[in-house]
Amino acid sequence: QDSQLAPTPPMGFMTWNYFGDNITEQDVKSIANAMIEEGLVDLGYEYIFIDDGWQGGRDNRNNIIPDPIKFPSGIKALAEYLHSKGMKLGIYSDAAQLTCAGYTASLGFEEQDSKTFASWDIDYLKYDYCGAPTDRETAEKRYSKMADALQNSGREIVFSVCEWGQREPWLWAKEAGGQLWRTTYDIRDKWSANAPEGTNLHEESIGYGILDILEINAELDEYAGPGGWNDPDMLVVGLYGKSGPSGDQGGHGATNTEYQSQMSLWSLMAAPLMISNDVRNMDDDTRRILTNKDIIDIDQDPLGKQGKRVINKDNWQVFVKPLTDGNYAVGILNTSEKKRRFKKNLDSLGLDGKYKLLDVWSKKGYGKTDKLNFQVQPHETLVFKLSR
Ligand code: GLA
Repeated sequence: QDSQLAPTPPMGFMTWNYFGDNITEQDVKSIANAMIEEGLVDLGYEYIFIDDGWQGGRDNRNNIIPDPIKFPSGIKALAEYLHSKGMKLGIYSDAAQLTCAGYTASLGFEEQDSKTFASWDIDYLKYDYCGAPTDRETAEKRYSKMADALQNSGREIVFSVCEWGQREPWLWAKEAGGQLWRTTYDIRDKWSANAPEGTNLHEESIGYGILDILEINAELDEYAGPGGWNDPDMLVVGLYGKSGPSGDQGGHGATNTEYQSQMSLWSLMAAPLMISNDVRNMDDDTRRILTNKDIIDIDQDPLGKQGKRVINKDNWQVFVKPLTDGNYAVGILNTSEKKRRFKKNLDSLGLDGKYKLLDVWSKKGYGKTDKLNFQVQPHETLVFKLSR
């Protein structure tokens, strides 16, 4: 079953960054409609992931129920609505009594809640870990329990393990029944925390920016593959500091160059692509970044390899992602504050012979070469598709 679920990284819209726990069925529908109109669904962003805040407790038979004011028509009706538009629905719970935002969670009700989710035709569950014991053994047990319950629910439901990378889930979450696992604490809408090395961004309440999350996720390439993905959290593209919950801890926005870099780097790392800005009101830059078909194709390449970071020093990070048919994607990030020229032979990145290059952002093509020689703006990531 596992390899059928999430053969490529899941894509869609996640409610948390923009709506927080203030999410309603009207919001979900209006987001869905905008995603269709903007062509996002056709590009593969097929899910809406309802995050924390949908729950309304349990009924007198202990069945979990949605908040009747936020979701008056119920979740099943919403799933039907999305399915009728060719979309899928994700939902959220937690492996303890209460979720991170203090709502009803699933500990002790794994089977019952899984059956409920299946009866609502849910396609995906994000399972959080607030309020649960910190040891790895308990985490493995609680995630396995929920995964088993989902597998016995009578419906194929993608299972997202969300314990924030604290117990090395890349080593066990797939075995436990998950198709993706968060590798980090929550991303904030900013380029970098800019904190001195060694600072605990979580404990010091500073929060992780794009670069801080990259630093963790880039080292985990060997653990990702079809049916089991590293999840470095949502895209913050287009939030411009307007996020709800992620606006705290210094998430005051990033530049379009930096947002484009996030889209590039997440795709090179075969990360789930979870849009989190208000797609009903997108500006041209945000639309251009989120809808670049060439970059999405790199993320979704069926080979399912997470790009390897082959250079990480002296103002540069370089990623190489093998693609199907012997092609490659190469990403060049300038981490410095100055415009710089990147000059290297392809063989120094482990790529033999000559390749044609396509710059997937400018759409400029280059004839066969064995060299890279390009200007890169500060915080910009150039991405090339290499083919013979
Ligand atoms: C945690 C998760 C977030 C989000 C919130 C909801 O912080 O890591 O992604 O789901 O909980 O409360």
